[in-house]
Amino acid sequence: MFELSGHIALVTGAGRNTGEGIAKALAAQGAAVAVNDLLPERAEAVSAEIEQAGGKAVAVPFDVTDRDAVLAGVGRATAALSGPIDILVNNAGIPADMGYGPFRDLDPSRWHGPVDINLFGAMNCVHAVIGQMCDAGWGRIVQISSGSARTGSATGLSLYGSAKSGVEGFVRHISQEVAPFGVTANSLALGIMSSAGGPGVAALVKRVPTGRAGSPDDAAAAIVYLVSPEASWMTGQTINLNGGSVTY
Ligand SMILES: NC(=O)c1ccc[n+]([C@@H]2O[C@H](COP(=O)([O-])OP(=O)(O)OC[C@H]3O[C@@H](n4cnc5c(N)ncnc54)[C@H](O)[C@@H]3O)[C@@H](O)[C@H]2O)c1
Repeated sequence: MFELSGHIALVTGAGRNTGEGIAKALAAQGAAVAVNDLLPERAEAVSAEIEQAGGKAVAVPFDVTDRDAVLAGVGRATAALSGPIDILVNNAGIPADMGYGPFRDLDPSRWHGPVDINLFGAMNCVHAVIGQMCDAGWGRIVQISSGSARTGSATGLSLYGSAKSGVEGFVRHISQEVAPFGVTANSLALGIMSSAGGPGVAALVKRVPTGRAGSPDDAAAAIVYLVSPEASWMTGQTINLNGGSVTY
């Protein structure tokens, strides 16, 4: 089960942490993987590690918020991996400036970062591959989201949470458009991860019922299922993966 040989995946923001774990897990299942990151050295390091482990990968650094760069990067990946991308994991979601803080204090100049990467970044990447997926009659799109999309908090995440809510809505709508073509689209809403930073993180981890933050392997295992041939009836959903932190 969950065999991905013959498939070609693009994982954005895959130069470290969650995205790196996802890229390596997809490669281990047999997919050829285009490893994207904003920082070329990160993408190249992960791609090289996949190749050293016997997998197939290429580094395709680009900024997901730059539509022209996304199109060029998808073109490079398609040429290097000898075929169109049929698995897209939109993982890039943490911008250089997260726009943390109470909304009343946030200058409008800071509103764009989380929205641009999570919403327009996802749209740029989906738009670059969705036509080919529909024409081929098979495709998998997974959006990495966050519990902050559905649960409000006073932790200064209003910009990020609204961007994640927006992209979950986007995925629900496209799932309906592409379902007749054999293409699925889902969101994976993660809880607090081991890569999380910031002063309140230790307290948040303590409140996770399973007693720990999520790891890249936790996320990767769920992604392997969601992009697999076996998940053809799973679409339009937001899957929570959070150690039991939220149960609705
Ligand atoms: N860290 C958490 O606790 C947590 C919780 C819930 C959800 N998430 C989500 O999980 C995903 C991964 O988070 P992470 O903690 O592994 O992030 P991270 O910041 O550790 O790594 C993400 C990578 O994305 C790259 N990146 C940044 N901007 C980019 C851009 N514009 N284009 C391409 N790549 C870009 C970075 O260079 C970095 O290597 C994100 O979507 C995030 O919102 C994280």
